[in-house]
Amino acid sequence: MSKKVMLRRKITLCRFDDMHCHFRDETLLKEVLPFTAKYCGRAIAMPNTRPRAILNAKDVIWYRDKIKMVLDKIPKMSFFKPLMTIEIRDNTTPQMIVDAHRVGAVAGKIYPLGVTTNSDQGLREFFSNGIKETFRTMQDVGMICLIHGELDSPRKLFIEREEAFLPIFLQLVENFPNLKTVLEHVSTEKGINMVAQLGNNIAGSITAHHPILTLNDSRLNPNNICNPSPNRFEDRDAVLKAMTSGSPKFFLGSDSAPHLREQKECANIHCGVFTAPILPSLLCEIFEIAGCLDKLENFTSRFGAEFYRLPPNKGKIDLIKKEWTVPSQYGSVVPFMAGAKLQWQLM
Ligand code: DOR
Ligand code: ZN
Repeated sequence: MSKKVMLRRKITLCRFDDMHCHFRDETLLKEVLPFTAKYCGRAIAMPNTRPRAILNAKDVIWYRDKIKMVLDKIPKMSFFKPLMTIEIRDNTTPQMIVDAHRVGAVAGKIYPLGVTTNSDQGLREFFSNGIKETFRTMQDVGMICLIHGELDSPRKLFIEREEAFLPIFLQLVENFPNLKTVLEHVSTEKGINMVAQLGNNIAGSITAHHPILTLNDSRLNPNNICNPSPNRFEDRDAVLKAMTSGSPKFFLGSDSAPHLREQKECANIHCGVFTAPILPSLLCEIFEIAGCLDKLENFTSRFGAEFYRLPPNKGKIDLIKKEWTVPSQYGSVVPFMAGAKLQWQLM
């Protein structure tokens, strides 16, 4: 983060849509939600909560109420709306899709078995007759399909897992040509190219950390360890290029994923990078260094909404050019880039 082309002192942006965010439950929910609600109009609330996962209409109502209870206690947060999701497992039925959609779930999330945090009951079989009916129902009701695009298979390194999943992704897209599908947190050049080449019902979400990190960075700092793993330099560059390209096929999905400090700085590290507290500052800096601050708002606040067929958010946020140091900890969580200096500050 050193190349500086500093011309603008203030930037005003439409509130963000963060199309992939982990809010967790209980204490962590209270700690992390206010960060996102401060600058987002909406955010996709990921369903991989534990002990209670979000699997059906009842769970959606339960989790949304919990989120609302936290929002109600924070001043000026009433304008933030969580967008609810359910996990799609092998036993998710068409009726569960219809019911969850009816109570407001906008998307179903697929974790292939064993690829990341809380995916121990993830999808095993992508092409069984049962799950095909479930996908067909998602297509029919207009529920968006969010895919964690990695495959855990023997003799595959972590950095090879996204590429290993792409043939399954392609097959799914071909089987369900009208299913709106997001390849989430795209982390490889091959993934980016695939999304770019497919039709307009296919999009890719991009985090703020994959355009910055390579495998080298996550080897040295457990707080940078996440899934998909940061990858090669070529992959990082391809993600940055897609993010700043102005293509509506790529939009923000931060995958901000808080874990307690003791779950990160230990053996058996939990995967996830907590970017929520620094997201607007970091994105401003990334786009400024890339020389395209003018493309930032489309990435954070327009392309995602258009894909989800939502109206643009009404409120605005301001950032000013003022160096600050990212704290070493927020509550019980170490943020991404702890101790580093950032150039933009959210007002
Ligand atoms: O690094 C990750 N952390 N990737 C995911 O897909 C899940 C997330 C989490 O829930 O912690
Ligand atoms: Zn995630």
